[in-house]
Amino acid sequence: MDLKSKIRVIEDFPKKGISFKDITTLLKDGEAYKYLVRELSDQLKNLNVDVIVGPEARGFLIGTPVAYDLGVGFVPIRKPGKLPAETISYEYELEYGTDLLQIHKDAIRPGQRVAILDDLLATGGTVLATAKLIEQLGGQVVSINFLIELNFLQGRDVLQDYEVHSLVQYED
Ligand code: PRP
Ligand code: MG
Repeated sequence: MDLKSKIRVIEDFPKKGISFKDITTLLKDGEAYKYLVRELSDQLKNLNVDVIVGPEARGFLIGTPVAYDLGVGFVPIRKPGKLPAETISYEYELEYGTDLLQIHKDAIRPGQRVAILDDLLATGGTVLATAKLIEQLGGQVVSINFLIELNFLQGRDVLQDYEVHSLVQYED
């Protein structure tokens, strides 16, 4: 299946010059969503993954069905103030200012093999922060898998220490 044909591109959203990759058109198509989950599961099935981690919010849409399919747990990465138990935080740079992501301190056990799933690789900041949080808890990031990669932002460069996969790539 051509997953790229299921993704809608909206020009000048959320601001002029940005070509937004809208995955809602893929997600509402049952056959396409199932195919996406199958593809991601296949990429991970031989890696002995113990747990899947996904960053809020779109990472939940990609990560949870794959975790269910593989029969492993899912751990959410959330924006500040959303997780109720004890957390650790990682601050990362944005174009303007910084952002913070959090994980529950007891979400990952030392030595666990973790895969990170998210919808899109842009600058790589979100997923690098996610990887750092997992590693602070002693987890091992064995794979990072995306639906979409924006090649022109070179997010792979900041993820050089990791195994990175994407299913659909864009050049602009
Ligand atoms: C988007 C997208 C990725 C991230 C990629 O999330 O879902 O998580 O940006 O960008 P990066 O590689 O430059 O970090 P966003 O923060 O817009 O929030 P959402 O998932 O809650 O919609
Ligand atoms: Mg996101």
